[in-house]
Amino acid sequence: MSRKVLLVGDGAVGSTFANDLLQHTNVDELVITDVVKKRPIGDSMDLEDIIPFAGECNIHAGEYSDAKDADVVVITAGVPRKPGETRLDLVNKNVKILKSIIQPVVDSGFDGVFVVSANPVDILTTLTQKLSGFPKNKVIGTGTSLDSARLQVELARKLNVPVAEVNSMVLGEHGDTSFENFDESVVAKKALKDYDAITADVLNDIEADIRQKGGKIIENKGATFYGIAMMLTQIVSAVLDNRAIVLPLSAPINGEYGIKHDLYLGTPTAIDGTGISHVIEAKLSDSEIKKMLNSADKMQEVLAGISL
Ligand code: LAC
Repeated sequence: MSRKVLLVGDGAVGSTFANDLLQHTNVDELVITDVVKKRPIGDSMDLEDIIPFAGECNIHAGEYSDAKDADVVVITAGVPRKPGETRLDLVNKNVKILKSIIQPVVDSGFDGVFVVSANPVDILTTLTQKLSGFPKNKVIGTGTSLDSARLQVELARKLNVPVAEVNSMVLGEHGDTSFENFDESVVAKKALKDYDAITADVLNDIEADIRQKGGKIIENKGATFYGIAMMLTQIVSAVLDNRAIVLPLSAPINGEYGIKHDLYLGTPTAIDGTGISHVIEAKLSDSEIKKMLNSADKMQEVLAGISL
């Protein structure tokens, strides 16, 4: 069976993802679309040059109708954040863009998995499912996977352990109400809170640093793309390869944590070739559950203000 991906949005995130994906797994056909028509033409020619090393792939510019027989449609398209803007500031512009994408993709007969990274990602993932009418497990958002990767790196450095030994996540909104599961975190087989270097102030600083890191990258270089492109690559390659992995992703909430709203939010999520195989309700302390509920309320407030 041929393995086909349609990438919608060929900006810095989209093209970095295309480059990463080709190097991580076998893809038979990669179709790239963008509102700037020339960009995917140039990008597919540029990406073709890695084929001798990354493996054969039919890479070309295309249309939403190319989704017809695709396994995965990746949506990175959207207006990116400018310095000082929050992800939620983008909502109206990016909902409009999202609407223009989902209908023609669905009309093509697409029957695969949507993977969304455009911001605000929890909102846009929720709306991708609503607009497409797809089963909830066929729509996945990058959620707090990137924040969690940032956290792993920071804790590994602070505690001088290999990054793979850091068992700690960021959950909730990929945005200003995100939070860490510090109360359950384990680093090198030892509870995070038992480390001498870890105090309440240190944890507060880490939480603030992780929340602000995307904004700082944008301030300095205009955009963030290597991290988020790698998260997309992990998700899309797991789906294409039918490889089961668990990451904190934007997943459909069905009463987990006591959340009453019908939306997608960052929680540990098991994915494989079917899309989301199951949503995992992490064990959280009471104060962390409050933060999760706060994130869910904030997302619901934003969703309630959107008329589709
Ligand atoms: C970031 C963008 C992807 O946090 O939201 O880098």
